[in-house]
Amino acid sequence: MTDPQTVLTERVQQALAGAFGPEYANADPLIRPSQFADFQANVAMSLGKRLRRPPREVAEEIASRLADFPGTVEVSGPGFLNITLDSDWIAAQASQTFEDERIGVPTVTPPQTVVIDYSAPNAAKEMHVGHLRTTIVGDALARLNEHLGNTVIRQNHLGDWGTPFGMLIEHLLDIGEDSAVAQLEAGMGTEFYQAARVKFDGDESFKIRSRQRVTTLQGGDPETMRLWHVFMDATISYFNKVYAMLGVTLTDDDIAGESMYNPMLDKTCDDLEAMGVAVHSDGALCVFPPGFTGSDDKPLPLIIRKSDGGYGYASTDMAAIRYRTDDLKADRILYVVGADQALHFRMVFAAARLAGWLPETSSAEHVQIGMMLGKDGKRFKTRSGESVKLTDLLDEAIERASAAIDDRGYDEDTKHEIAHAVGMGAVKYADLSISHDSEYVFDFDRMLGFTGNTGPYMQYAQARIRSIFRKGGYDPRAVRGPIRIGEPAERSLALHLLGFGTVVEQATMLNEPHRLAAYLFETASLFSTFFEECPVVKEGVDPDVRASRLALCALTLRVLETGLSLLGVATPERM
Ligand code: ARG
Repeated sequence: MTDPQTVLTERVQQALAGAFGPEYANADPLIRPSQFADFQANVAMSLGKRLRRPPREVAEEIASRLADFPGTVEVSGPGFLNITLDSDWIAAQASQTFEDERIGVPTVTPPQTVVIDYSAPNAAKEMHVGHLRTTIVGDALARLNEHLGNTVIRQNHLGDWGTPFGMLIEHLLDIGEDSAVAQLEAGMGTEFYQAARVKFDGDESFKIRSRQRVTTLQGGDPETMRLWHVFMDATISYFNKVYAMLGVTLTDDDIAGESMYNPMLDKTCDDLEAMGVAVHSDGALCVFPPGFTGSDDKPLPLIIRKSDGGYGYASTDMAAIRYRTDDLKADRILYVVGADQALHFRMVFAAARLAGWLPETSSAEHVQIGMMLGKDGKRFKTRSGESVKLTDLLDEAIERASAAIDDRGYDEDTKHEIAHAVGMGAVKYADLSISHDSEYVFDFDRMLGFTGNTGPYMQYAQARIRSIFRKGGYDPRAVRGPIRIGEPAERSLALHLLGFGTVVEQATMLNEPHRLAAYLFETASLFSTFFEECPVVKEGVDPDVRASRLALCALTLRVLETGLSLLGVATPERM
């Protein structure tokens, strides 16, 4: 491990244990980047209170035990420890990171099994922008976890079951299978649903047929099941178009829709009832997890079987969580779903704990996705007020990207390739560069900007380093180093590059890809300063200095490329 923050944490902990006893060996030294030194450790402030000693004295004591330390430690103010690392140490660590295939990213031992529930559009309606965000964030989490060596099981919890499917199948029969399939494959699920709904509300005989169809569907009638499959296959083929455009890793093998849990629902409810976890209330079967009350202070029910005997969203989620821990052997289950479902998931997780279906050793985590807003601050819609078809939205991003690079002299094919990478990169990076739970304004102009913390800027930053190598006639893979430190800009860049592994690990553990995005943005800006101040390929540069700077360029490039690919953002060769 070469990350300075980790190294420093260990060293200061050893000093703490030496000075104040082994019970301090695991205290958090509170090491943070500092404006006065490379890092500062703030632990003496809190420790002073605990030890009833002046913090400054505590700080002196720690500093005196950091003798064989690769840098200098100064006590400042009321008891801050200012830590400055030796440039030689930074250079040695950077050279080592450069040699390391994984550029400092650890592998988790033993690997965990991480089930990630993401995307999950509803077949009866359109795949909307909210699903775009859970798809993008979930996919980044899947890539991050896999890179750390975890076993990732993707679960696309499609909304593919329920009473609306009776009327959808009847509507499909009315308009004919072929035209239904064509419509659904084109992404007109919402129109399809609305047309069915209008008939359902206005046409008594259609309503009766639809209800009967629900019964035959639930009974597993072969012809009805065939029709359901026709409907679902066409719908999924549209979802797959969106995934392919985005370069999302979901495949048909990852589909684990609501329908999959159907055969388990009776047993789910019976078992919960037999355990006494679920009880009858007003004719429904409910779990009342402790600590959940409504506005009237009455315990809040999680309804797992309705009074008419029907099953709903909560029933499926109870079956799903049991399946994920029992059958998939999940250590962690991530639910990348809209923030508006927070209460539902808290109750499902609490009920699962009660039932013993979520053992102490496993975690269930709701990765809350904030709402996507339009420029007007309201829920994202088109000007005419309908929700937006995703493929249209993505096409528009590509067109705009194409217009932005129009004057760069690329042939049509290359231009299209770059525009695709830039358009999709812009949309994805916009979702990944802010915390997943914050509300987010969908704004093409901002996300497609070539300056600031945007996808195009990040893609450009790596393409620029590639062009430095291309123009200088160097191969980034043939560069050998070692890295030395002369100028301050070299030092800052090298020091920052040492933190890549830790940031990847943190982004993964905390389900916060935006931490990685922020780190990469900082990398790009430190690189810019370095490249302005330190000539690399210019004539007259000392060969050792050049070798070192080329290695810094190559390491930066690998960090940017790896980081962006972990976010699922393409890294075009040129831009
Ligand atoms: N289909 C749901 C929606 O569109 C999301 C499903 C999330 N996953 C789950 N296990 N409930 O809101």
